[in-house]
Amino acid sequence: MLLDPVSYIRDRIRTVPDWPLAGVQFRDITPLLQDPKTFRVLVDLFVHRYMDQQIDVVAGVDARGFILGSVIAYELNRGFVPVRKKGKLPFTTVAEEYELEYGSATVELHSDAIHAGQRVLLIDDLVATGGTMIAAAKLIRKLGGEVIEAAAIVDLPELGGSQLVQAQGIPLFTVCDFA
Ligand code: PRP
Ligand code: ADE
Repeated sequence: MLLDPVSYIRDRIRTVPDWPLAGVQFRDITPLLQDPKTFRVLVDLFVHRYMDQQIDVVAGVDARGFILGSVIAYELNRGFVPVRKKGKLPFTTVAEEYELEYGSATVELHSDAIHAGQRVLLIDDLVATGGTMIAAAKLIRKLGGEVIEAAAIVDLPELGGSQLVQAQGIPLFTVCDFA
C-alpha cells in the first residue's frame, strides 16, 4: 500500500535543464512511464478520480497526452479522440492556433470527433503556459462538447497556465507541480 502516491509519482519525473532551449527546465515523464509500478499508480489515480463521473469520451493531446489519455479511456470503457498537431488528421477538422512556452503551434480535431452535448475528459501530461489545454478545450467547445475537466500530471504554476485555464471556465486537475 502506497502512503503517498503523489510523491511517488512526482519523484519519478526527471528534470532536464536547458532543453529544448537554454533556460527551460524540461519535466520529463518518461521515467514515470517506463517503470511499471509508477505507471500503474499514475493511471489508477486518474481512473479512480473519474470512474464514477459521467463522461462520454476522453480526448488526449498530441503527443504525450495520447499515452495517458488512451489508457484512461480504455480503463473507463470510453472512446478516445486525438487532439493532433496541425496537418496530421485526414478528415475534415476544426483548428486552433496557440502560443507555447517555446514557440507556437496549431492543434486540430476531426469535426465528427465530438458530438454536441457530449461530456469530455481532456488529458495532457503537463500545463505550462496553458495554451495547449485552452486550445484543445476550445476545439471541443466548437463542436458543442463540454469539458468536464482538463487533467494533467504536472503543473508549472510559475508560468501561470493553470490560472488561465481555470479563468476560461475549464475545471483543472493536476497531480503535482514544479515551482
Ligand atoms: C508540451 C506538453 C503539453 C504542452 C504544454 O507538448 O506535452 O502538451 O507542451 O505547454 P503549454 O501549457 O505552454 O501549452 P509539446 O507541444 O512540447 O509537444 P509534444 O507532446 O509533442 O512533446
Ligand atoms: N511543455 C512545455 N513546457 C514544458 C516543460 N518545461 N517541461 C516539459 N514539457 C513542457
